[in-house]
Amino acid sequence: MKRPVRIAITGAAGSISNSLLFRIAAGDMFGPDQPVILQLIERPEAMPALHGMAMELEDCAFPLLHTVRLHDNAEAGFKNVHYAILLGARPRGPGMERKDLLSANAEIFSRQGRALNDHANHDVKVVVVGNPANTNALIASRNAPDLSPSQFTAMSRLDHNRTKGMLANHTGCNPTDIRRVAVWGNHSATQYPDLRHAETFGMPVFPSLDLNWVENDFIPRVQKRGAEVIAARGQSSAASAANAVIDHMRDWALGTPPGDFTSMCIVSDGSYGVAKGIVFSFPVCCRYGRYQIVQNLAMDEASLKRLKTTEAELLEEKAAVDHLLPKETEEAHNN
Ligand code: NAI
Repeated sequence: MKRPVRIAITGAAGSISNSLLFRIAAGDMFGPDQPVILQLIERPEAMPALHGMAMELEDCAFPLLHTVRLHDNAEAGFKNVHYAILLGARPRGPGMERKDLLSANAEIFSRQGRALNDHANHDVKVVVVGNPANTNALIASRNAPDLSPSQFTAMSRLDHNRTKGMLANHTGCNPTDIRRVAVWGNHSATQYPDLRHAETFGMPVFPSLDLNWVENDFIPRVQKRGAEVIAARGQSSAASAANAVIDHMRDWALGTPPGDFTSMCIVSDGSYGVAKGIVFSFPVCCRYGRYQIVQNLAMDEASLKRLKTTEAELLEEKAAVDHLLPKETEEAHNN
């Protein structure tokens, strides 16, 4: 049996976590021979609920669950962790403007970035799920000067899986027969779910699709799927978000399947003309615990225009929190 890995989860008493913890403990993230230590972090007010979750975990008697620790602060909760899943974020309250939401979250993610920097394992892999996820990841990364920006990601895997699910439904094939879909940009309604490189059964599928369906049905539906789920359920996506966290971390740690890629929000290196330094969803391949942007995908004019729209939104979000960000060091730039 391998040595256990330590996984920190913030917002651990919330809805996504309620689906996520049990799947991690069952071995869905890192496989059936990888024990896990869960370091669960919540706000002090939510600690009683978190105790309840810990009781339920114990009551499952999962063989892979080595230890569960509960924390009401990020500094203790991130101690020596190999993976950090940041679910907890400030939701938009009544009358709250977008810039207030960005600032409230900037405070949370600055502190968590510093705590990761000071307490986590130096190879920690971080995924930010709490919204606005891309900009929260940027803030956390900028507050962790001793870690590489490449250790910080935000989650677009739910958008990626939605893209695959809808294409599977439309074409009548199984999701496992679909490869090379991509999601570009922000985890928001400006994202670009891209089918132009997609394959079913190893063959390009785009030429056989009705362009009207792609442009006027498929793309807006994926972009607004979160709102569609909220309208139907009265709550935001939880089980599918948890499933996407599992997929994101598993592929990052263990690799993407040969011939396929996935989508991850990562710090832009300028690929495809995207402004450097923003956290942007790109198609990536993962191997040996690292990811690389898939290069040289042919981009037509319509796609490049969509990339510019979502890039502009991320630059706006960054501008709104810029005064709260520590100045970038030369070293971080070179990382
Ligand atoms: P939830 O409201 O059920 O749970 C959030 C939990 O975070 C609460 O228990 C709260 O006490 C905790 N929390 C808040 N601030 C915290 C802090 N500073 N430290 C530790 N814990 C803290 O929300 P849910 O449904 O679990 O969603 C979590 C986040 O994920 C939300 O921001 C939501 O918008 C986002 N989300 C992102 C998706 C993506 O694809 N990137 C998909 C679905 C949701």
